[in-house]
Amino acid sequence: KPVIFSGIQPSGMLTLGNYIGALSRFSQLQDDYDCIYCVVDEHAITVRQNPADLRRRCLELTALYIASGLDPEKSILYCQSHVSGHAELAWILNCFTYMGELNRMTQFKDKSAKHAENINAGLFTYPVLMAADILLYQTNYVPIGADQKQHLELCRDIAQRFNGVYGDVFTIPEPLISKTGARIMSLQEPDKKMSKSDLGEGSVFLLDDPDVIRRKIKRAVTDSETEIRFDPENKPGVSNLLTIISALTGESIDSVCAELDGQGYGALKARAADCAIAALEPLQAEFKRLMGDKDYLMKVQAESAQKAAYLATKTLRKVQKKVGFAARP
Ligand code: AQP
Repeated sequence: KPVIFSGIQPSGMLTLGNYIGALSRFSQLQDDYDCIYCVVDEHAITVRQNPADLRRRCLELTALYIASGLDPEKSILYCQSHVSGHAELAWILNCFTYMGELNRMTQFKDKSAKHAENINAGLFTYPVLMAADILLYQTNYVPIGADQKQHLELCRDIAQRFNGVYGDVFTIPEPLISKTGARIMSLQEPDKKMSKSDLGEGSVFLLDDPDVIRRKIKRAVTDSETEIRFDPENKPGVSNLLTIISALTGESIDSVCAELDGQGYGALKARAADCAIAALEPLQAEFKRLMGDKDYLMKVQAESAQKAAYLATKTLRKVQKKVGFAARP
């Protein structure tokens, strides 16, 4: 079966954006692909984290993976820091990546503007670690939100460059980006993406109570017109709500527009809130149940890490040999 790899950072509580762009799609793939889903804690420390919070969130994210329908018997669900191959391959790939390439990454520009007090080298080489994550497992497809497309293109360039020098070492991965809902925007600033680290009213968090979800969506920024029309350029707030409804229900945006025609923004927001609550309530219930059994979650992490490490080591040894590292005694 083709291999799928994707990861989510335990850098905060997941948002509806992470759910639509990533999490909700993961479980749909697990029957047809060999799926590897990682809690990328090494990526998370590119921004300063509180250690206790980070540790707790790694466990929570494992619980969210399972609560979203992932089956640890079918998919590998592990923490990045439990498999040392990620950091080892990232170092080698750093030596095959140009500063100019990393300078062009828009996420680095956005994040360094947001974290001006801590523009560290890890933030800069983040895409190289991401390339290592993916290439380590000879990944065929990477389900990601549209915001990660640029990083995936760089990953492909690095892999092609390496293969060009040493022969076919890495499988060249393809992105899997869903057509609708690929990029969910902040409810308060609809020209910016919804983000875990935005703790204000702009993000719906996966564990928000239904009344909080309803309130946040009710207060979403729209525009001074009344027409419900999909036009991300001129009506980013309304278009974002339409995208949310369409992504959560599977209905086309045109049919959502037709259904709500003439009903005004109040009805649009009520519909979006209903859809979000309907999607998140079962997930929240299952999450709570799983968090009551931490031993089970740790066992999933440990067993998955073992499976991941086996696969990772196969690629890593090949790469180490190709670049000329000393033979292992
Ligand atoms: N707003 C979004 N819409 C659609 N997809 C999104 N993703 C993130 N935000 C949106 C997708 O979620 C996956 C995991 O993202 P990540 O944890 O690696 O980090 P991120 O992209 O940096 O997400 P955040 O929420 O913005 O985190 P912080 O605030 O910590 O930077 C990816 O597949 C991503 O595409």
